[in-house]
Amino acid sequence: MFNTMTLTKLAGALLGALLFFLLMAWASSALYHVGESEDHSGGEHEAAAAGTMMSAAPGDLLATEGDAAAETETKAEETIVLGDGDAGKGAKVFGKCKACHSVEGKNGVGPHLDGVINRAVGSVADFNYSDAMKSHGGEWTLEAINAYLANPKEYVPGNKMSFAGLKKAEDRNDVIAYLQEHTQ
Ligand code: HEC
Repeated sequence: MFNTMTLTKLAGALLGALLFFLLMAWASSALYHVGESEDHSGGEHEAAAAGTMMSAAPGDLLATEGDAAAETETKAEETIVLGDGDAGKGAKVFGKCKACHSVEGKNGVGPHLDGVINRAVGSVADFNYSDAMKSHGGEWTLEAINAYLANPKEYVPGNKMSFAGLKKAEDRNDVIAYLQEHTQ
């Protein structure tokens, strides 16, 4: 009875160790054999690889996958070139601004946006800007207007444009293209 128990435990431990080794060997080949030229020179090589992967914790594998995902996201954003938007689509996006802005030189709830690209911030003479906008300084460069439209409240804290912003980079780029067409 005692002997059988010991034997069972021993067999279990051995099996567990074998399983662990197989798993690690599989993980190591997944980690280290990608892109490597086929070089299976023998057991020694495998053993060396298995030794190396011992230091590569599962966390490392996860981190690598996370970085790759982050890279893909950045690339998607990068494909949008600021100033290269579609003015036709931008005209539609501008529908969201029309309640307050015109591009025909007339002020509404907001200042007119005729020629706003590269115009000094808060510079329409007969518009009553907030102090925040008046004291902001600078010009509405493509970068500035893109950042403002992404998050008006954050870019000019205390400004009085009651607009949540355009979350999509593509929408911002398109409406900026539309505004550029109305810049003399
Ligand atoms: C609910 C009204 C409202 C909407 C909608 C709105 N704006 Fe505005 N906008 C304002 C007001 C008011 C100001 C002036 C803010 C201040 O003085 O603090 C302003 C200011 C601006 C300015 C700065 C102009 C300058 O002369 O410095 C830009 C650029 C601008 N808006 C673009 C847009 C665009 C593009 C949209 C649509 C995507 C939009 N706004 C939607 C009300 C609005």
